[in-house]
Amino acid sequence: MIRVGLLGCGRIARMYHLPILARATGVELAALADPDPERLASAGAAVPGARGSSDWREILGDDSIEAVVICLPTGLHADAARAAFQSGKDVYLEKPVATTLAAARDTVLQWRASGRVGMVGFNQRFHPLVVAAREAIRGGRVGRIVGARVSTLSPRRDLPEWKRRRAEGGGALLDLASHHADLARFLFAEEVREVSASVHSISSEDDDASITMTMESGIVMDSRVSFATVGENRFEVLGDQGRIVVDREAGQMRVDPLHPPSTLARLARGAARLAGAPRTVRSILSRGWDPSYRKALWTFARAARDRTQPSPDIEDGERSLAIVLAAEIAAREGRRRAVEALAS
Ligand SMILES: NC(=O)c1ccc[n+]([C@@H]2O[C@H](COP(=O)([O-])OP(=O)(O)OC[C@H]3O[C@@H](n4cnc5c(N)ncnc54)[C@H](O)[C@@H]3O)[C@@H](O)[C@H]2O)c1
Repeated sequence: MIRVGLLGCGRIARMYHLPILARATGVELAALADPDPERLASAGAAVPGARGSSDWREILGDDSIEAVVICLPTGLHADAARAAFQSGKDVYLEKPVATTLAAARDTVLQWRASGRVGMVGFNQRFHPLVVAAREAIRGGRVGRIVGARVSTLSPRRDLPEWKRRRAEGGGALLDLASHHADLARFLFAEEVREVSASVHSISSEDDDASITMTMESGIVMDSRVSFATVGENRFEVLGDQGRIVVDREAGQMRVDPLHPPSTLARLARGAARLAGAPRTVRSILSRGWDPSYRKALWTFARAARDRTQPSPDIEDGERSLAIVLAAEIAAREGRRRAVEALAS
């Protein structure tokens, strides 16, 4: 049994991390931190017996806590993660790992020096539809990869103050495109070489952006992120023999071949695929619950118990941030920009 502290009990933590950790096998959610008394109380009601604190630092001073899950505003991530590694805790750090490359690098160094488990919250790597798309790419089902388009858009909503300001970790690039940068690396198993981008402020600072990421092999991924338009969460991978379409809101992944099979063959294949998908997966996906958070957090808990290092690690977080920060500079300068190579 590992004793875990949850640092930050805001929107995403109460939606996913808290209920998942409260029920995870081999995990005792033993401490919660949030300065907002209402949030702390509502989180505490779901985990009776857990210690409540108004600040994350108090939890780090508790030697009985072995691991922490950090869901703080992004501007606090690097400080909290570095302090947690220094206190000898295993760390699951929500994305993005920091707001500057220097802070991200320092977090990587602290993680390595600590010898503790360090994982970053790129939960999309664990989404069944993303995993299926990656397998389809690797299996050559759409031939040679030419490019990709990915969008994460959401209608205007009341964002917390920190998400409305870039300096505190807000903006669509840091908050949303950090996932896309990691998705590109995960799907194509190669690094992003250069980027171009444009960023707009519609109802808050930098809340709408588009980026073009060019991979080392020349694959081009177009990414669109926004907090100011319709809801959409999908990607397409374009190959010379077809395309893969993943729509996470609809819970669908399909492969469109360049030369479609006959109607009969298509119907037979569709029926076989449906019968093969476990019923729980189908119903979970169709209810809108994102199963990737649970898989990611279970992976972290297992690694903390078994003393193994899971993926994506803190350095994957640094690499995603390097892409996002290069995109910010590219947008400011109005030209393509190489992604900084990281020391490893
Ligand atoms: N992996 C994902 O898909 C995903 C999705 C959403 C959010 N996130 C990340 O999770 C983090 C939190 O996002 P959110 O939308 O829940 O934001 P939020 O503002 O709703 O939550 C942050 C919480 O941290 C608390 N907090 C602030 N200072 C604190 C302190 N000193 N000690 C303890 N708690 C403190 C705030 O009161 C708030 O409740 C962000 O970094 C965001 O990027 C990741």
